[in-house]
Amino acid sequence: MCGIIGYIGTKEASPILLSGLKRMEYRGYDSYGFCFLNDGKASLFKRVGKIDNTEKEFLGKDFVGQIGIGHSRWATTGLVTQENAHPHCDCKKEIFVVHNGIVENYKELKAKLIKEGHIFESETDTEVIAHLIEKYYVNNLEGAVGKALRDIRGTYGLAVISTKDPEKIVAARMSSPLIIGVGVDEFLVASDPSAIITRTRQIINLDDGEIAILKKDGFCILKEEKEAQKNIETIDWDIEQAEKGGYEHFMLKEIMEEPSVIEDAMRGRLLEDEGLVKLGGLESVQDQLRKIDNITLIGCGTAHYAAKIGEYMLEEYANIPTLTDIGSEFRYRKPIVNKSTAAIFVSQSGETADTLAALREMKAKGVLTLGVTNVVGSSQSRETDAGVYTRSGPEIAVASTKAFLGQLTILSLITIYLGRQRDMSIVTGKRIISELMKIPELAREILKQKNEIKKIAEKYKNCRDFWFIGRKYNYPIALEGALKLKEVSYVHAEGLAGGELKHGPLALIDENCPTIAICPTDSVYEKMISNIEEIKARKGKIIAIATVGNEEIEKIADDVIYIPKTLEMLTPILSVIPLHLFAYYFADSLDRDIDKPKNLAKSVTVE
Ligand code: AGP
Ligand code: GLU
Repeated sequence: MCGIIGYIGTKEASPILLSGLKRMEYRGYDSYGFCFLNDGKASLFKRVGKIDNTEKEFLGKDFVGQIGIGHSRWATTGLVTQENAHPHCDCKKEIFVVHNGIVENYKELKAKLIKEGHIFESETDTEVIAHLIEKYYVNNLEGAVGKALRDIRGTYGLAVISTKDPEKIVAARMSSPLIIGVGVDEFLVASDPSAIITRTRQIINLDDGEIAILKKDGFCILKEEKEAQKNIETIDWDIEQAEKGGYEHFMLKEIMEEPSVIEDAMRGRLLEDEGLVKLGGLESVQDQLRKIDNITLIGCGTAHYAAKIGEYMLEEYANIPTLTDIGSEFRYRKPIVNKSTAAIFVSQSGETADTLAALREMKAKGVLTLGVTNVVGSSQSRETDAGVYTRSGPEIAVASTKAFLGQLTILSLITIYLGRQRDMSIVTGKRIISELMKIPELAREILKQKNEIKKIAEKYKNCRDFWFIGRKYNYPIALEGALKLKEVSYVHAEGLAGGELKHGPLALIDENCPTIAICPTDSVYEKMISNIEEIKARKGKIIAIATVGNEEIEKIADDVIYIPKTLEMLTPILSVIPLHLFAYYFADSLDRDIDKPKNLAKSVTVE
């Protein structure tokens, strides 16, 4: 995810692009850059880091021009360097592109373009787009952009300007959001309304496959080379809300992004016909991975719960003995490792001190280290031998939600990867992949219940003690649900393996202490029903997370939230979504500071 902005009109573009990009920096802040056109000449400015760090230098350049584009990067391909910052250009520095998304087939396109004589300056996938436009350019920019996009597989929201066709901006969208701002004698393009709301509230949402051509005296939007009729909408949010895409809190915005996070984590990585997955970040160690015979998974907090689910997946489907630990404990243990151990570190930020300490401990023992990381270029991504990025985009709320689903998706892919290196059959590989591909839509089905889940959360708003119980793949989800509720609403909540209730905690159950029972129809469903009966016998209230179609549960649960059926190993990716929404709405009913809960920090970089 990143921030894109473009301006064409009668004012100087520089201050408009700068203020607009600053308001989108929450979308990604690894690096930023601008390109301005003036008198047919292009001026380029790119820096690593946040805009604030080098704003003075930028202003000192005093860029002139009434046409320009800008970008704040959230790296997915290529490290965080000035060369990899956007805008990217063609060989002759006549075409300039800013891009949000992932070009899945960039490697083969880049190899072909290099063979055709193109010279590349960056490691990014985006630069391929600029060279393709150069390759196809005949007499106008929109024609070349349209041809270039036909070669691309992946996602994009992009804006292009060129000294060869200097009086226009061409923008295009496929999966990554992009809006057109319709101002007075000016037009803008941006990733989201926050960037342009001070210029205009009149916007057009581009749809997939559409190309917009913006000129000073007007614009048009094409779909399959025909003019598309689009409605102009009015933004009625204030600027603060606009940065949250119209949501009241980043946490809710990020929960609503969970289906697309799952999609992005899988994008370009599934070889469905062969029942395989392609994980570029593991290519360098794939032979070593064939030889490992035990795995240790390490993370903290929510990331630890993802790791715990990974443990179950790897044991059941890759047949590899696996254990999980929290970073703060592992770093002081005497770990029993050998040359056939692989350690997998799970972290959204890639900067968690306890996880990094465990990583360094494992490296010192010569263990192969892999990272499942969201932030490109983070310490974890640089210090592990190899790894896979979750591509979840910036997660702003302290409570981790969408990143957790990205982690689970990647751990599913790693399970297939390692399993297929061993005795997992092509049939099983294809089965898991085909079920995985359905998950984003199933997740969207769950999110449609958000109002019902809000009502259930508000029904229990006076309760101050909650239990979350689950078994097998959903035991870590019980832990995650309890943590989420605690950290955003400050009420006591405890996650527990369902079978453990009778070994003591049952003493706390009464009518004032509800239990969220995660009981999808799976191999341990009957056991979960026994646990629910034990609770009901003590007048405890039950909120059940159950599989669509299960009517029996309504006879014993006080409230039921349904999730669609999927493979048992993939159920956690769905069963956690109602718990994230429950925690959010419960905290909102108590008017908590949801995005920045008291005492907490987004990334715990201290021991
Ligand atoms: C989760 O909601 C918390 N914010 C916290 O437990 C978090 O998961 C933990 O600090 C690990 O962070 P990381 O994923 O960035 O390593
Ligand atoms: N894939 C591009 C890159 O890594 C764009 C990333 C983004 O959306 O910011 O540079």
